[in-house]
Amino acid sequence: MTTYDEAFETSRAALQEALPRRWAHVQAVGAKALAVGPKILPDPDADALAIAAILHDIGYAPSIVDTGFHPLDGARWLQRNGADPRIVNLVANHSCACLEADERDLRAELDEFPNEKTLTTDALLYCDMTTGPDGQDFEIEERLAEIKSRYGPEHLVFRFISRAEPSLIDGVRTVQRELGHQPM
Ligand SMILES: [Fe+2]
Repeated sequence: MTTYDEAFETSRAALQEALPRRWAHVQAVGAKALAVGPKILPDPDADALAIAAILHDIGYAPSIVDTGFHPLDGARWLQRNGADPRIVNLVANHSCACLEADERDLRAELDEFPNEKTLTTDALLYCDMTTGPDGQDFEIEERLAEIKSRYGPEHLVFRFISRAEPSLIDGVRTVQRELGHQPM
């Protein structure tokens, strides 16, 4: 899994048949990372971003689910399967996963994987949070509303997204500024 193509194949094998909708989202997030990364990141970071993007939701694959918390399950599986530690850590911490870990009482487990908190993590968040469940382009506000309506107010993901909202919007705005978008 050291190249994008290898990571794509790994993700495809895990998700395409079992979770075709999730696979549509993941492919679009990967494609967005390939397009955005080189515009704002040095080559090694852009490469890591793209590989992490195509692998970021692999923890949803039925063959990989363990705790049911997909960033942690995905990261542990990738670690066992020899992925680069930086990729493992980016997947573990994608899109404010630490806040969902709090909701699930899995923060200590997630903290096994250090969060680099760089522009690369913001870029991964941006690619994920501006891509809808079918791979369509979304504004961050649409994406947040879509996630909330998909889970409903009683679900812990709803509580997580509500808590994470300011950080998620902040991460997206940071990347938009780097890309030269007008401030919103
Ligand atoms: Fe995810």
